[in-house]
Amino acid sequence: MFRSQLIHRVLPANKHLLNLRSVSSTAFLSTSQSPISNASVKSTPIHSAAAAGAGAASANASSTIPQPPKGSSIEFKLSKRDPNQFGSRPIYLDMQATTPTDPRVLDKMLQFYTGLYGNPHSSTHAYGWETDKAIEEARTHVANLIHADPKEIIFTSGATECNNMALKGVARFYGKTKKHIITSQTEHKCVLDSCRRLQEEGFEITYLPVDKEGLINMEDLEKAIRKDTCLVSIMAVNNEIGVIQPLEEIGKLCRKNKVFFHTDAAQAYGKIPIDVNKLHIDLMSISSHKIYGPMGMGALYVRRRPRVRIEPIINGGGQERGLRSGTLAPPLVAGFGEAARLMASEYDADHAHILKLANKLMDNLLSIEHTQLNGSREQRFPGCVNVSFAYVEGESLLMALKDVALSSGSACTSASLEPSYVLHALGADDALAHSSIRFGIGRFTTEEEVDYVIDAITQRVNFLRELSPLYEMVKEGIDLNSIEWAGH
Ligand SMILES: Cc1ncc(COP(=O)(O)O)c(C=O)c1O
Repeated sequence: MFRSQLIHRVLPANKHLLNLRSVSSTAFLSTSQSPISNASVKSTPIHSAAAAGAGAASANASSTIPQPPKGSSIEFKLSKRDPNQFGSRPIYLDMQATTPTDPRVLDKMLQFYTGLYGNPHSSTHAYGWETDKAIEEARTHVANLIHADPKEIIFTSGATECNNMALKGVARFYGKTKKHIITSQTEHKCVLDSCRRLQEEGFEITYLPVDKEGLINMEDLEKAIRKDTCLVSIMAVNNEIGVIQPLEEIGKLCRKNKVFFHTDAAQAYGKIPIDVNKLHIDLMSISSHKIYGPMGMGALYVRRRPRVRIEPIINGGGQERGLRSGTLAPPLVAGFGEAARLMASEYDADHAHILKLANKLMDNLLSIEHTQLNGSREQRFPGCVNVSFAYVEGESLLMALKDVALSSGSACTSASLEPSYVLHALGADDALAHSSIRFGIGRFTTEEEVDYVIDAITQRVNFLRELSPLYEMVKEGIDLNSIEWAGH
């Protein structure tokens, strides 16, 4: 059995970080030992100190446990997450925002904070050679997962940087003759904002609509391509609703029309099968912290044949083939490489695990009255389940669910109370968009957690609906659309 299967399928959820602590301590003791074979080694004082600190945090956390809504008969089962390290915490179902770092990834990284500290670009001595070697190994792992050549992988700080680099880089390089870009209305903010910036620079952008399933229409795309189109940028898996765009068809159409195809694969890389050659992808954005790797790390795939040229947005020492200057961070690169290697070797186990839990969650949530799944049922990454609960305000539901870490959409926009522009693009009205919640399931989610969340949601949706005058009217058979609301 794979190691991660052992970690997440045999150990209960709250044992996971305990395991992480003992694993990581082995790396402090010896960088050459296998973390797996030494999982029983005792924690170092560093860890003990952290644990003592966390004990205090735990005491504090229990005094600020969120309470059920007033008047409710709901019983808050206290969900204890990582009690030894971080105190009582909610169940984590926000995997699209970020994923927990895999303990094996951390173990790979730690040696670069202790012994292997050379600058990978120092070519005159062994310190540089050893970190450079680790970086090239990581590059190979990252490339292998998408059937790319390692030379086509440019390390960056994350998918936001990649998207900026791809859009601005291609536009500015080819911009003298080609001033048109096509993207979709449901892209991540960093794609849309890069497009806005390019519009200010004189580029024209077509924002394709999506259908009610969240998918672009291929005829719309074909019609939108012009002689001066330099780039089509369509995301692979949507971060709010999990739908998978028709990548192969888009790639073929772009290749036929000699237009570059960029895809934001922050939520897709390692989670759905991607072969850049089969799908005719020319540029692809990847993020490490969505695949159980470290934050602040990512990679842009840039095709070499036929060659894609980009104008760098960061200039300097000429690292990363001159496309992205700056000293690479070996701990982050090596962790990212290890995360990619694990995504490849554990793909089948992860996929089966996520599919099973997601189906259970989805079937149970959709069996609650007046609910709907947002986005295509067929064309989707199963680990992202977005459900609307009519007659319940999403923010109120989130407030009533303090024991579960969830989001009503993208982490970047969750601070605002604006309803999701992605759900609007699918045709949802404000009320429905406001009543939607995204559930993210990953490698370390357990069935016990999913069962807890199903119970919690069912109880609290019912509770909030009992308080809702609208729901009262619905129960009385009043058609809400027939009501003329008086203004203030
Ligand atoms: C689809 C998509 N693109 C880009 C990003 C940005 O990724 P990063 O955090 O690596 O900058 C995210 C992160 O939420 C995302 O979901």
